[in-house]
Amino acid sequence: MTTIPGPRPGEDWNHMTVIGRGANRVCVVDRRDTRQCLKFMLPASQRTRVGLRQRMQRWRATRKPARDENHAELRAWLQLSARLPAEDLKDHLATVLGIFRTIYGQALCCERVTLADGAAAPSLYALLFDQPQYPAPMLCAAVTEFEQWLLRHRIPLFDLNAGNLLVLPHGDGVRLVCVDAKSVVSGKELVPLSRWFNVLARRKIRRRAQRLRERIRAALPASS
Ligand SMILES: Nc1ncnc2c1ncn2[C@@H]1O[C@H](COP(=O)(O)OP(=O)(O)OP(=O)(O)O)[C@@H](O)[C@H]1O
Ligand SMILES: [Mg+2]
Repeated sequence: MTTIPGPRPGEDWNHMTVIGRGANRVCVVDRRDTRQCLKFMLPASQRTRVGLRQRMQRWRATRKPARDENHAELRAWLQLSARLPAEDLKDHLATVLGIFRTIYGQALCCERVTLADGAAAPSLYALLFDQPQYPAPMLCAAVTEFEQWLLRHRIPLFDLNAGNLLVLPHGDGVRLVCVDAKSVVSGKELVPLSRWFNVLARRKIRRRAQRLRERIRAALPASS
């Protein structure tokens, strides 16, 4: 995730502070309101390498911006917020506020997920590979709670990768908040069977959650 060129957390990006970056986008603090963040598409040279199908998707997005990752995340958010209670959604998914045109290009504006004191919340990825802080069983329990929430509400969020989940203290343990729901509306499959059949969707969510728990145990073996 951090071996490719491009902005890193804490660095300056077009006069805005970087919170994080993924395969496609950089997320910076919104200077108009620091409780918000802005996500910008990264230039092709700074994106991670992906397979042919995703390269095609990226190429189509350059020709038609409504197909890009920001629009996908906005569509996912609109879909979910139309059918789930606001408070329940807020506890599990970062709130999307809209897409804005800025001098640096279009940006998706979201509420920032932070710790109680306003500091950046660590991603699960950071807690596994950069700055371990919690034992594996505690993180695995949070994955299970998140998995149950997805299953309860039939949410086809398949991209359960550690960079998409931020970790917040909660009672005696922790809870996960997803900051990237675009997989609810866009996937890598040519024929998205698991989106059409609930039984396949449930199986896929369980598989992805299990894989994530295995990654956690592998990264933090001493504590599992
Ligand atoms: N709402 C938010 N609040 C706080 N931090 C955020 C938020 N959204 C994104 N981030 C930070 O930015 C990073 C990358 O965001 P995001 O997953 O949306 O980018 P991406 O390029 O779409 O990712 P992917 O690699 O999954 O395609 C996250 O790991 C997180 O550190
Ligand atoms: Mg992501």
